[in-house]
Amino acid sequence: MNKDYEIIEHEYDVLVVGAGGAGLRATLGMAAEGLKTACITKVFPTRSHTVAAQGGMSAALGNMGKDDWRWHMYDTIKGSDWLGDQDAIEYMCKEAIPSVIELEHYGVPFSRTEAGKIYQRPFGGMTTNYGEGTAQRTCAAADRTGHSILHTLYQQSLKHEAEFFIEYFAIDLVMDNGICTGVVAIDLSSGKLHLFKGHVTLLATGGYGRAYFSATSAHTCTGDGSGMAQRAGIPLQDMEFTQFHPTGIYGAGCLITEGSRGEGGYLTNSDGERFMERYAPNAKDLASRDVVSRSMTIEINEGRGVGKEKDHIELHLEHLGQDVINEKLPGIAESARIFAGVDVTKAPIPVIPTVHYNMGGIPTNYHGEVVNPTSEDDEKIVPGLMAIGETACVSVHGANRLGSNSLLDLIVFGRAAAKKAAKLVKPGTKHSNVNKQAIDKIIGRLDKIRYSSGKNLPSQLRLNLQKEMQKNVAVFRSEKTLEEGRKNIHSIYKDFSDINLSDKSLKWNTELLETLELENLLTQGIASVESAYNRKESRGAHARDDYPDRNDNEWMKHTIASINDDGIVDINYRKVILTTLTDEVEAVPPKKRVY
Ligand code: FUM
Repeated sequence: MNKDYEIIEHEYDVLVVGAGGAGLRATLGMAAEGLKTACITKVFPTRSHTVAAQGGMSAALGNMGKDDWRWHMYDTIKGSDWLGDQDAIEYMCKEAIPSVIELEHYGVPFSRTEAGKIYQRPFGGMTTNYGEGTAQRTCAAADRTGHSILHTLYQQSLKHEAEFFIEYFAIDLVMDNGICTGVVAIDLSSGKLHLFKGHVTLLATGGYGRAYFSATSAHTCTGDGSGMAQRAGIPLQDMEFTQFHPTGIYGAGCLITEGSRGEGGYLTNSDGERFMERYAPNAKDLASRDVVSRSMTIEINEGRGVGKEKDHIELHLEHLGQDVINEKLPGIAESARIFAGVDVTKAPIPVIPTVHYNMGGIPTNYHGEVVNPTSEDDEKIVPGLMAIGETACVSVHGANRLGSNSLLDLIVFGRAAAKKAAKLVKPGTKHSNVNKQAIDKIIGRLDKIRYSSGKNLPSQLRLNLQKEMQKNVAVFRSEKTLEEGRKNIHSIYKDFSDINLSDKSLKWNTELLETLELENLLTQGIASVESAYNRKESRGAHARDDYPDRNDNEWMKHTIASINDDGIVDINYRKVILTTLTDEVEAVPPKKRVY
């Protein structure tokens, strides 16, 4: 063991890293299955980024009109632009129903219909009868659904005696001959290092939205799980697909829920025109997010943006009236007042497409087990390692996620992972000796960063990365922008090897923490730009000016990007699963997406 650090050891049956919706649902499930469970989280659980999820969680409950999980599955496949794996999508849409009922029973305070059922609102891309009508499928607790879910799951996890290690930052996975045996974390307040041993380590650390300059993601969304996976030699899947949410508040980036358009809000350009009628004659403002974000960007680029700089769009809620705002959308009314100075009952909100979600991540199967695809075996499992939520790529969202399918993904796969872990791990199984070289390697990396005395400031490099991603890995991409992005992002990565940390201490060293986060952001930025450069077609959220069409013949395949220590990316592929899990539903063959 490294002599410079006192390392405190812990043994658990299972470890969960991250305490957002996915991490907490898994923690609760594993603890309830009788497994000794530790949840390691860098923020207090109820402050995890899921707290910012507003609009709701989809499930074909049929409380507000006829619905069917098969229609939900169809919408999700179409929304994914046929890059989603249909077996996993079937599983998610079917399991959505018991999963949401369970949440209700755990105590989530959903909004209610007159009849006392869970309230459901329309959301983009959610239809009835395979595209014919508009579905009311998104289960909501006003516009604070994530907040309600997080609080309930944290309470339930405590009730089941899960143990929490709060404000602990996971530095790296402990790998032994390709098997994950645990994780090393730093307790941010004491600066002490902790080695957690677990027979399963589950990553639920969220996305890497903060690789961009303007994002709805919290400052904590730095892709820590995927960064650790990359360093453990696990590739990342479909990193070119970044979702821009149509309605981030102009200038601030805060989310204005799609639920606001679900409740009847609409977008206009500088002519006061409801331009979505031209781009998506049927779904209009409730087309899928990639379609709405692109349409807004085209309006701005063609000179029909609003404001002095003609660089944003207006979202109207004035006509909805005070009662609807108070009951269904109180949170966004507050955000609009604070961050845009707008009273939504009187004036439109200035909005702009803003980075919101990463469809790509650590490849997994629908049980949450991490896979490391090889040329012989697309589904090769990494023993001891699981991943769920935004850090994972199951892949249920393919090239574009539908709104309200994220809370769903967190809950369904958190639940599935807990069930799988209970099958894999017998409570109380003895742990083997820890791999000393693996620990030394982790500490070596920590020390290298901690004692670095080069010339570049981590804060400056982070800003450079964010500006570069925003500019060159944007809503629309081309060979030219991506080539420039590659060059500049690789150069920032090179600058990272010559950084300077002024604070060498360990207790609450936020400079050290942010530098560790920066490395995670950087490697994921590289994987994103390289994967985007490589994919020579347009599909879902990946819109290339130079390859405007989807090309199923050549590109209906997942990108698998491996990155080495020098930042060199090697690209391989994994097949898209176009068959179903059961015979309860038929596969949806690829066709052109029309909204
Ligand atoms: O618009 C929203 O409320 C966000 C939902 C989502 O990303 O699923």
